[in-house]
Amino acid sequence: MEPKTTWLANAVDQAVARVRKIDGEIVDFPHITEKKKWTFTPDGVWTGGFWAGLLWLSYEHDSDQKSLARARHFTDRLLPRADDANNHDLGFMFVPSAIKGWQLEGNEGYRVAAMQAARALASQYNSAGGFIPGWGFFGGEDWSGNVLVDTLMNLPLLVWAVQQGGDPALLDVVRGHTDKNLRHVMREDGSVYHMFRFSPETGAPIAGDTYQGHGPETTWSRGQAWAIGGLAMLAQMLPDAEYLAASERAAAYFLKHLPADGVPPWDFQAPAYLPYKDASAGAIAAFGFIKLFDATGKRHYLDVASRLLSALAETCANEGDEGGLLLHCTADLPHGLGIDESVMYGDYYYLKALMRLQQRLSPSAH
Ligand code: GLY
Repeated sequence: MEPKTTWLANAVDQAVARVRKIDGEIVDFPHITEKKKWTFTPDGVWTGGFWAGLLWLSYEHDSDQKSLARARHFTDRLLPRADDANNHDLGFMFVPSAIKGWQLEGNEGYRVAAMQAARALASQYNSAGGFIPGWGFFGGEDWSGNVLVDTLMNLPLLVWAVQQGGDPALLDVVRGHTDKNLRHVMREDGSVYHMFRFSPETGAPIAGDTYQGHGPETTWSRGQAWAIGGLAMLAQMLPDAEYLAASERAAAYFLKHLPADGVPPWDFQAPAYLPYKDASAGAIAAFGFIKLFDATGKRHYLDVASRLLSALAETCANEGDEGGLLLHCTADLPHGLGIDESVMYGDYYYLKALMRLQQRLSPSAH
């Protein structure tokens, strides 16, 4: 019998209460905060699935009917995005929202939309290059040869679609893109580049780089967390021993560089004059460690998730009037966006990881 984890139950209750507070104050999709106030997008840009997902999780927590109605409302608003074939984040858009809604309610329209989203994601695969590029044109620049490590976390949408009877060729996309990442994006020491440039014509590697990290050769902590989680999920779903080993290597790097306070810096090699944290990297990594526990049965990974989440609950959970569930996140420091703020992906993975940890620690209570 596990000791009663009061901090965990309190953290979940506090997080769900905060989702409802935010929900009472908004019309459009919250994205990131600036000066502690949410910025919004009408179509959910790439983060709308996380907001719908927070509402579904809140409904899952206590069957609140208002949360259910709002989860449906925001999920419905995302459905037209299922055809967006210029968006490598369709997994983020549709897994926490439409797939979650379908799992909880059996809404066939949500399943159909998620299947379409999977096809739209796979359609972005450059088969000559062996990768899905990050965006198409981005900030006026041609990104057709640029791969972002974040995309690994979107590939479970494709595996799910095949499990649902979709075209098995979607698995070729998963294999091609992931194998390319393991060969080039992951470094010898288990860290990952945020971005890697390839020839879009031949797929020949050009160089590692970054967009949101401190420099090409540093390790952006959220990218490291996306790699742990994405590879762990793929390893479990396929299943695949090589992907599991890669996720464990990424996890070992993350732990080795985690500071004693348990909250990651925004970049593991950030200079002292940029001392910002990224609580969202901690939340995403905690989710990844829970997935590693699921894939391996190693209790150590659950203990790490617990350590990461209790550190966030203690030092980053927001009790103020404004902002999201988590404070002290960094969206994009090099471009001056969301520095020491709240971000929707941090909020989503925080509540998701808290609830999944609760289930793993006391399965009979759920
Ligand atoms: N996927 C983009 C980010 O993590 O900011």
